[in-house]
Amino acid sequence: MARIIRIFDTTLRDGEQAPGCSMNLGEKLEVAKQLQLLGVDILEAGFAIASPGDFAAVKEIARVIRGPVITSLARALPKDIDCAWQAIKSAEQPRIHTFIATSAIHLEHKLKMSETQVLEQIRAMVGYARKLCPDVEFSAEDASRSDPDFLCRAFETAIAAGARTINIPDTVGYALPHEFGALVRQVMQRVPNIDQAVVSVHCHNDLGLAVANTLAAVREGAGQVECTINGLGERAGNAALEEIIMSLRTRSEQFEADCNVDTRQLHATSRLVSTVTGVKVQPNKAIVGANAFAHEAGIHQHGILANRQTYEIMTPESIGLASSEMVLGKHSGRHAFEERLALLGLRVPETEVSVLFDSFKELADKKKLVSDRDIEALAMGRSLAVPEFHKLDSFVSNSGTKLDSSCTISLHSQDTGKRSEAALGDGPIDAAFKAIDRLTGREPVLQSLELNAVTGGTDAQGEARVRISFNNQVYNGHGISTDIVEAGIRAYLMAINALEHEEGVADAASISA
Ligand code: KIV
Ligand code: ZN
Repeated sequence: MARIIRIFDTTLRDGEQAPGCSMNLGEKLEVAKQLQLLGVDILEAGFAIASPGDFAAVKEIARVIRGPVITSLARALPKDIDCAWQAIKSAEQPRIHTFIATSAIHLEHKLKMSETQVLEQIRAMVGYARKLCPDVEFSAEDASRSDPDFLCRAFETAIAAGARTINIPDTVGYALPHEFGALVRQVMQRVPNIDQAVVSVHCHNDLGLAVANTLAAVREGAGQVECTINGLGERAGNAALEEIIMSLRTRSEQFEADCNVDTRQLHATSRLVSTVTGVKVQPNKAIVGANAFAHEAGIHQHGILANRQTYEIMTPESIGLASSEMVLGKHSGRHAFEERLALLGLRVPETEVSVLFDSFKELADKKKLVSDRDIEALAMGRSLAVPEFHKLDSFVSNSGTKLDSSCTISLHSQDTGKRSEAALGDGPIDAAFKAIDRLTGREPVLQSLELNAVTGGTDAQGEARVRISFNNQVYNGHGISTDIVEAGIRAYLMAINALEHEEGVADAASISA
């Protein structure tokens, strides 16, 4: 029997901490539901004390998600641990994840504490967390640059105080695989009470070695790995979940280990995280990049046609890519459409399939052939929808050479009903966004705007991603349409609706407080 490696996903904590990756509550909840479907064992929902938004998201995920253990990060301080516990206590299986640094450089320059003081803090804070929650994980930040003797004493203290998982982070992505494997081996051999805890690893990718280090640790006996979808995370990111999982499955004979993840959900999960964060996956990214299963060279195509295994070590179906790119059209019925959604691993609640099917029919009217990528884009747009405080009624856009662009937009707003405004701008998008600012009375800062074609062809759907900031908060929007200006307008409106929604939630919370 292969031992089961526990998969600890930290996309919503370490991943979300990365610049430009912040998500709102609705987006985090969607990602959490997808991670539940993927079958991760532990879901780190956030760092509850970091902000009221983080706290609310962790709390909501703990309330809604069933299956995985739900954890929140907490520094080894009473106020952090209390806050984490308040956020996760309604989870089916809550875990407090507390940490303190153990390397000399962190002790001297950041914590300004001696080794004895750090050990005492670990003993006191792990013990404090254990009084609140039966499941406590302790991480030794910067473990890979710590003195191994001290690191072992830190883990021994944490386990004696009640930690049931001890985590060895390569916080700055400094370790090489043979060194990191040896460090895990030392911890397993030298910490006297190690049999009472699961050994976990958490590797950053500064030298591009996060997955290699993680796998080296698994070979030495680590029983939990911490990772993120698409390798998101601080700086160069964390170990990519999809790469670890597919390595474990494809080279199982090297690890004598397996995991509980449903690999057929990997593609859909990667797409969702990319859409939500606006961080694109590079085409040659292992497992989930657009080219990961594409065979371009003639000699490769010849081999693949003769026998797929000549050039394919994993099947596209194993990560949830449909075996054939089937194209639907306006004569395709609801049954075929629903079958395709299921084949693509797209989870759409029964109540929303009709609306999505209507959008598909509308698209098929404009664009004769609707591809899998089109269907994915439609489904992603649906899953990320926020309440429509302002709804697009119609727009007219005018642009060309030797004239200023103009746009007239008509919106239905919950407060004011239907109204129109026109604006001139430096290009059609600039004009459209200015008209929307006038109608909504908001002037957010546009941080980024990305326009892409979902597929090839001049009739392709345009996909727009917008990121705005307002009062130091960031909001994302996503829009699709065969008209790229309309896609931009929809994305911008979605970001403004997210802003209205979050402000509404915050106001309601302050009134009821
Ligand atoms: O990289 C790191 O050290 C961390 C810990 C807090 C687990 O993210
Ligand atoms: Zn980290």
